[in-house]
Amino acid sequence: MLQNIELEQFQEMVEPPESEPDRQYYFIAMARKLTAQLEKQQKRKLTYCVTTFGCQMNARDSEKLTGILELAGYEAATEDMADLVIYNTCTVRDNANQRVYGRLGNLNSMKKKTPHKKIALCGCMMQEPSVIETIKKSYSFVDLIFGTHNIYKFPELLVAMLTTEDMIIDIWKDTDQIVENLPVERKYAFKSGINIMFGCNNFCSYCIVPYVRGRERSRNPKDIIKEIKDLVAEGVVEVMLLGQNVNSYGKNLEEPMTFAELLRGIEKIDGLKRIRFMTSHPKDLSDELIQVMKESKKICRHLHLPLQSGSTRILKAMNRVYTKESYLELACKLRKEIPDLSITTDIIVGFPGETKEDVDETIDVVKRVQYDNAFTFIYSKRTGTPAAAMENQVPQEEVKENFDRLLKVVQETARERVRLLTGQTAEALVEEINEQDETLVTGRLSNNTLVHFKGDSSLIGKIVPVKLKECKGFYYLGEMI
Ligand code: SAH
Ligand code: SF4
Ligand code: F3S
Repeated sequence: MLQNIELEQFQEMVEPPESEPDRQYYFIAMARKLTAQLEKQQKRKLTYCVTTFGCQMNARDSEKLTGILELAGYEAATEDMADLVIYNTCTVRDNANQRVYGRLGNLNSMKKKTPHKKIALCGCMMQEPSVIETIKKSYSFVDLIFGTHNIYKFPELLVAMLTTEDMIIDIWKDTDQIVENLPVERKYAFKSGINIMFGCNNFCSYCIVPYVRGRERSRNPKDIIKEIKDLVAEGVVEVMLLGQNVNSYGKNLEEPMTFAELLRGIEKIDGLKRIRFMTSHPKDLSDELIQVMKESKKICRHLHLPLQSGSTRILKAMNRVYTKESYLELACKLRKEIPDLSITTDIIVGFPGETKEDVDETIDVVKRVQYDNAFTFIYSKRTGTPAAAMENQVPQEEVKENFDRLLKVVQETARERVRLLTGQTAEALVEEINEQDETLVTGRLSNNTLVHFKGDSSLIGKIVPVKLKECKGFYYLGEMI
């Protein structure tokens, strides 16, 4: 991250530089001048509150927004107090959208009481033209709207917002640009998400992500390795490599490389203790990757391998490009090669045309694979996706019945699977003080299971051996040894 001193050089420039990220540093310097003036008037610091909806990509984007705001002179506050509220939105399922609209209603009443409060919206939902129309019509008090492709331009947009009363809308359809080296404010000191690629080319027929995140673009491996080395120098011991489909990493680079090759490079970074990644698409999971995972001392024993459906017929309609049999074969191979691997998954119930028999097939896969955890979702119709135009949408009651049936099996098998480690000792990375009982800390095992045990804040960020004494369903109570 650039230091304050370096920001001064941008403060003296008359024109914004053309090249990125310098241009954005120029606008951060300008925003800082503006916030300093407001600070003087109000005799207090300006404050912000960023709320994140959706996945880890959005969480990482929010860390970038926060990094920029902190450098521009803002400090964190609660939503009701903040001078600037940002919602980084998700649109993967309709309930994510509804939550945003609900909370916007509350913000409207807050803004009526404190009219200087600024409200900005960004993220995936903003890439949908119909959402922009709704906001313009029913939520006209919003000050700034931007999308996923121009998030790196936030400093420039922030300055524009601070110098006008009009609503600013800046949405791009797509981009091939990747801007490196913008400031980031991490949520955790000891672990961090790292984008290795952006966008998605898979176009699963139910999914809106390719439309709102654009085409797949991989970051240059040198930039990724440098970012991780810098993070390790700052005390990070665990990284989570992020992409919608990490297994296709590197295909569109000038010098193509595989995800497994990238992992080999990251493994060599001194001081880095743990490597995680998500998400893996089953269609691209190579033997080379399994081998690298097997040989690695740092790659965690956890693989998130979304199934979506266990019915080959439905998988075809979903455009997932694998069958029930090929998925099971892959899971079998993984179990054989890496026996201590925990496998988790995502499943959708109620895809158009799905019958009770299709759900039986999904349940069969759940029973056979024995997932450590499965996130089950009710199908949500996303405008513009091929599945939304399919005629055979399943009635709600039927979906609910199938969903409950599946959930029961998922919970039973996950319980069985998670408790297999009872009595063993495993390494846990201590993440935080337990929310319910402050004499306990919460640690994460390599396989992603949580364990709570006696300890204090001095342990946070350390990897310690813990005896897993009692399994409480989906987590353990343990004792540090
Ligand atoms: N790229 C990841 C998934 C990103 S979205 C992958 O391919 O696995 C996270 C999960 O949301 C998906 O795995 C899917 O299970 C779910 N999902 C996506 N679109 C959905 C929709 N329209 N309705 C319900 N669930 C959906
Ligand atoms: Fe969506 Fe499929 Fe891409 Fe995942 S791989 S983001 S489910 S289109
Ligand atoms: Fe949601 Fe966008 Fe992630 S739609 S799941 S926040 S990529």
